[in-house]
Amino acid sequence: MRNFRYYLPANDIIFGSGSLSSVGVEAKRFGKKALLVTGKSSMKRLGFLEKCVDFLKKEGLEVEHYGEVISNPTVDIVNRGARIAIEKNCDVIIGFGGGSAIDTAKNIAVVAGHFEGKDISIWEFSGAVENPRPITSKTLPVIAITSTSGTGSHVSRFAVVTNEKTREKMGILSPFICPKVSIVDIDIISCMPPSLTSKTGFDVMAHLTECLVSRRSNPITDFYCLKGVELVFEYLPRAYRNGEDLEARENMAIADTLAGWALVTSRPCLPHAMSHPVSAFYPEVDHGEALAALTCECVRFNIERGDEETVRKYCEIARIGGKNINSFTKEEALKSIDVIKELLEKIDLNVRLRDFGVKEEDFEGMVRSAFSTMRGPIEANPVDVSDRDIIELYKKSM
Ligand code: NZQ
Ligand code: MN
Repeated sequence: MRNFRYYLPANDIIFGSGSLSSVGVEAKRFGKKALLVTGKSSMKRLGFLEKCVDFLKKEGLEVEHYGEVISNPTVDIVNRGARIAIEKNCDVIIGFGGGSAIDTAKNIAVVAGHFEGKDISIWEFSGAVENPRPITSKTLPVIAITSTSGTGSHVSRFAVVTNEKTREKMGILSPFICPKVSIVDIDIISCMPPSLTSKTGFDVMAHLTECLVSRRSNPITDFYCLKGVELVFEYLPRAYRNGEDLEARENMAIADTLAGWALVTSRPCLPHAMSHPVSAFYPEVDHGEALAALTCECVRFNIERGDEETVRKYCEIARIGGKNINSFTKEEALKSIDVIKELLEKIDLNVRLRDFGVKEEDFEGMVRSAFSTMRGPIEANPVDVSDRDIIELYKKSM
């Protein structure tokens, strides 16, 4: 066994139907004024925004609402939200929605917390710049209410932001942005339409399978990954077919949480590294869609060149997905591609890059973007990977 370091920042998870009602009591532990960060429409349309504001006000909190978050949120969206948090003197930032709203809340907490009278941008804290500003305990406290299953953002110390100018999509990383409290209310998650269930659910699968084979994996995280993969195979198709299947929704929310812990204690690898540039160059491509188009070719690449441990782990995935595995060989490991494809078929997400209008002429730029923003996941891949390899994999995923 390799030596490893295991660090999971603790947070409080309030799980289950109706748990949104605890937001007021939790938020008032951190102050009197909350910035509530959401997307533009879903939480309002479904009536949860009003409920959330009521729960907060009932506990005596003042609430500022910032409802400008879009999928693949940008630097500008974060900085504008931070300006409100600063001007209104907010004590706590509440991210309410999918990964985009939660990540934006985390990033706002960083910018507003480090404000010292002069405008700053979240990009100054990103690893994409030389000498990034350190993220410290000045970061404002964050509460996450997750509406998707998902990105694991409700339990992770990552927050993704896109720089439109440089076409870089980057993870901001710090234990200080890990939400203090995470609310996982199944009533909200159950409102996801089927296409969103499938895209976000495949993101969970990608986290689990990548963190399992990652060079940064460890035996504790492997438990989360193996159990999570089992839950996704069983419950994602059910949640997709029938959004009101509460057992399926609950188990996907658990899988999302396990996957979030896996992201924190291991690291995703090649599919995530390659997926961020896809959304950076084509912002209309959702994260889960990009992963669905890329994962199978990355798995094949890793099996063909992988060591014994990597091959064995892909065999485990195939076995959990229902295949008979007689020995831990590369041939048997390739069955993991079959089970992933079968899952994608069941959730109508068997897509290719060309379906999204991705153009080969952008591949060189996408590879540069991958190496500048996703070096960690590239280095965590169980197999060494060059820029030429990535271009080949993009081509094969067309
Ligand atoms: O924007 P609104 O109007 O709220 O609608 C959203 C959005 O259009 C809607 N939605 C969310 N929950 C819903 C709902 N509609 C109906 N019912 C619900 N319960 O869904 C759309 C997509 O939302 P978004 O937040 O963008 O989706 P997701 O949760 O997949 O988050 C994706 C973002 O998270 C990042 C991704 O890169 C992407 O930017 N990630 C964050 C990670 C992290 N922080 O650790 C790790 C991930 O690998 C990922 O990179
Ligand atoms: Mn992801």
